[in-house]
Amino acid sequence: MLSAVERKIEQFVIELDDKEVRSLYAKLPVGKRLRAKLILRIAGSSLPVVKTAAIVEMIHAASLLHDDVIDDAYMRRNKPSLNALYGNKTAIMLGDILYSKGFFELNNISLDVAKLISNAVTQLSLGELKDVSLSKAFNPDKDAYMKMIYQKTASLIEASAGAAALLAGKPKVVFMTYGRNLGLAFQMIDDLLDITQDSATLGKPAMHDFVEGKTTLPYIYLYEVLDASGKEKLRSMHGRVLRDEELNWLKASFETHQILVKCYAQATELIDEAVELMNAQGEEALSEIAMEMIDREF
Ligand code: FPP
Ligand code: MG
Repeated sequence: MLSAVERKIEQFVIELDDKEVRSLYAKLPVGKRLRAKLILRIAGSSLPVVKTAAIVEMIHAASLLHDDVIDDAYMRRNKPSLNALYGNKTAIMLGDILYSKGFFELNNISLDVAKLISNAVTQLSLGELKDVSLSKAFNPDKDAYMKMIYQKTASLIEASAGAAALLAGKPKVVFMTYGRNLGLAFQMIDDLLDITQDSATLGKPAMHDFVEGKTTLPYIYLYEVLDASGKEKLRSMHGRVLRDEELNWLKASFETHQILVKCYAQATELIDEAVELMNAQGEEALSEIAMEMIDREF
């Protein structure tokens, strides 16, 4: 039923009655549609559900358009990003158009769904701001990282699950906890894949988070176990392009201290908790989505 969501997004875009926007939207690569999948699996495929899924995907697409401008990213899903093709102004405005149309349509669903989703978009924006400010210097603070990824990524997934539960008459809090765990694990895995995968698989440059200044969880854990000179070395590598020798030192240090295994285990723990919650509700299909989250390569 994902195709119904695709058609709904297209319809919303056509309603904008603007040729340029239609052709720009057509250039956006379609992503994994994780949030839409989640909403449909929780709530079925009635019209309000399909609309909600379409709205959430439009908001998500808008956030990535803005994020690529903020991160100066020129590749997304193995293609040049929209800002790379048409410049920052166009990418920002297309983001604004998609998310404001999404917000307009949200008013037609229900007040409770609108509140949940719009509050998550505020969190998303606060999270992105925090990501930018944390990137200005090496960040050894795990709690600050966890709060940031909750806001930047998990909040919209949590709200998607909550909105779907509301639409389906299912218990909202349980589904929101499930969505929150999924979202946190998703971002933790994303941050691991940046280290373990090559650029072709990722569809964007590999080992790039730290270059961008992002001290993700593996770097925080590595910092915790390094001795004083190792700590100094890691700090000195923050926020710049690394030489081969430095990259090799990083990879060897992650290996020696079993850092990636530790991060993966932590993400798996969150997924196990989510799976248990859903199994207890008799929602095995949702356990599958949760497991797909940690078994992915990009
Ligand atoms: C990707 O993070 C970014 C996000 C998940 C959220 C970005 C949110 C905003 C820019 C706020 C948007 C606000 C509105 C109103 C739409 P990442 O850079 O870690 O992931 P990436 O490697 O895929 O780029
Ligand atoms: Mg980014």
